[in-house]
Amino acid sequence: MTKNKYDTVDATPVKSFFVDMLTRDIELVDAILDLLDNCVDGILRQKKNSSGATPYEGYEAEIKFDASSFSISDNCGGIPWSLHEYAFRMGKAAENRDSDLPTVGVYGIGMKRAIFKIGRQCLISTKNEEDCYKVEITPEWIEQSDNWKLPVFPVSELSQLPKEDGTTIEIGELHQGIATRFGEDNADFTRELVRKIQTHYAFIMAKGFRVKVNGQRVEPKPTKLIFVETENEQGTDTAIRPYIYDTEIDGVSVFLSVGFTRPIPSQEEINQEQEEKRYSSLDAGWTIICNDRAVLYCDRTELTGWGEAGVPRYHTQFISISGIVEFQCNDASKLPTTTTKRGIDASSSLYLQVKNKMRDGMKVFTNFTNQWKGKGNESKQYIDRGSPLALDEIKTKSSEKLKLNSVRSGLRGKQFMPKLPRPKPEPSSKRRISYTRELEEIETVKEYLLGEQEGSPSRVGEECFDMILEEAR
Ligand SMILES: Nc1ncnc2c1ncn2[C@@H]1O[C@H](COP(=O)(O)OP(=O)(O)O)[C@@H](O)[C@H]1O
Ligand SMILES: [Mg+2]
Repeated sequence: MTKNKYDTVDATPVKSFFVDMLTRDIELVDAILDLLDNCVDGILRQKKNSSGATPYEGYEAEIKFDASSFSISDNCGGIPWSLHEYAFRMGKAAENRDSDLPTVGVYGIGMKRAIFKIGRQCLISTKNEEDCYKVEITPEWIEQSDNWKLPVFPVSELSQLPKEDGTTIEIGELHQGIATRFGEDNADFTRELVRKIQTHYAFIMAKGFRVKVNGQRVEPKPTKLIFVETENEQGTDTAIRPYIYDTEIDGVSVFLSVGFTRPIPSQEEINQEQEEKRYSSLDAGWTIICNDRAVLYCDRTELTGWGEAGVPRYHTQFISISGIVEFQCNDASKLPTTTTKRGIDASSSLYLQVKNKMRDGMKVFTNFTNQWKGKGNESKQYIDRGSPLALDEIKTKSSEKLKLNSVRSGLRGKQFMPKLPRPKPEPSSKRRISYTRELEEIETVKEYLLGEQEGSPSRVGEECFDMILEEAR
C-alpha cells in the first residue's frame, strides 16, 4: 500500500520562534523583572513555610550590566537538579508546577525569554545543596534548529563552589540595541529599571529582599494610604480612611484597599501638573499584586475601573487617589495575571468580580474630590490629620481597629466603607415672603402690571417686588 499523502504534518516547534519572536512581546525591563521573580520563587521553594513579617530577609540579587555583558547573581537557593528536566525547557507541562507554593512562575518561559531578549550567549551557574552545575547556551546552539539539548558542566572542585546556594546568569554577545541601552549612556535605562524595581518589588523588599543595580541598593517605594486615627468631627463618625474589602474565593485570598495618598490638589497644582507633566500623577491609580509581585502599577484606565459604571475617567484632579489589590494563592495559575506576569487578565471572572469592589471603593474618593472641588485648603486639614500607612499596616488596622461589615450581595466578603467629611451646605442668602390679599385686589394689581398676560398670585407678588426694588435702588 502506498503511503497516504495526508498521513501526518510536522508540528515541532522552531527554535527561532522562541529566540526571535517570543522576546518581542516583552519589554526589556519586564524581562529583567522575570529574572528577579525567579529569585523569589527560589526563596519560596527553599523555605516552604516562610511566614512572619520579613520572610525574605537575608536574600538578595545583584544586577550588573555594561555595553558587553549582563549578569544577575543571587543567593536564593539555586535551581535544584530535580528541576533540570524542565527548568531549561521552553514552556512547562502542567504536572511540573510547584502547585503547593505561592510562586509566580507558571509558564516556564521567563528565564529563557529574558536571556534571548538580551543576548546570544549565556552561562547559568547554580548551586543547590549538593548539586552545583553550569548550563551553557551558545550562538551555535541557537542556530542549530533541531538540537534541543544543552550541555551541563558539573562543578565539584571545592575552590570553585560558591559559598551560598544561589544562581548566577551571565549573558554575553548582547544584541545591538540592548548593548546601546546598557552602554555608556545608560542613565535613562537605569532610571527606568530602578524605578520599576522600586515600585513593583516594593512589597517584596519590604519583606526583606534586597536588590542592587550596578552597585546601588534599590530602595522600595510602596503606596501608602492616609489613615486618620480618631474620628474627628464632633457628633459624627467621619474620618479620612481607606475603603477596605477582604475575601477568599476558591482558595485565592483577596485584600483590597483604596484611599488618598495626599491632599486633593488645588486648581493651580492641577494646571501645573498638566503643563509640566510632573511625576506625581505617576503614583496615582491602581496597583495589583499577585503573590507579592506588582503585576500592574498605578493603572488609571478602564482596566481598573476608571471611566466605567459611575466612576469618572481619570483626570489630574484625582491625583491623590490610589488603590492596591492583593491576590494570594499557592496555585499561581488561579491568579488573574497574563504570561508576562506584568499585566492583568482582564477577562478573568475573579478579577471582574473584584473590580466591582474596586469601583465601589474608588467612588467614595472621587465623590469626595468632587464635593470639595475649589475648597482644597479646607479639605486638606482633614487629610493632614492622618498618617500614610503601607498595606500591611492597613491590614493590621483592619483587624484591630475597624469594624468590617459582611457583604451579602454579589461577591461575598467583608468591607469597610469609610465615611468621609462632607463640606457644610452653603447657607442660602434667599428668604421667602408670603402674605394673603383679597382675590379682587390681586386681579386689579395683575391687570395693572401684566395687562392681558396670564399670571398666578405669586407671579403678581414677584412683579410687585421687582418693581419696587428697582425704584428703591
Ligand atoms: N535564580 C533562580 N533561583 C532559583 N530558581 C530559578 C532561578 N532561575 C530560574 N529558576 C527556576 O527555573 C525554572 C524555569 O524558570 P522560568 O523560565 O522563569 O519559568 P517559570 O515560569 O517556571 O518561572 C523555574 O522553576 C524557576 O523557578
Ligand atoms: Mg520564572
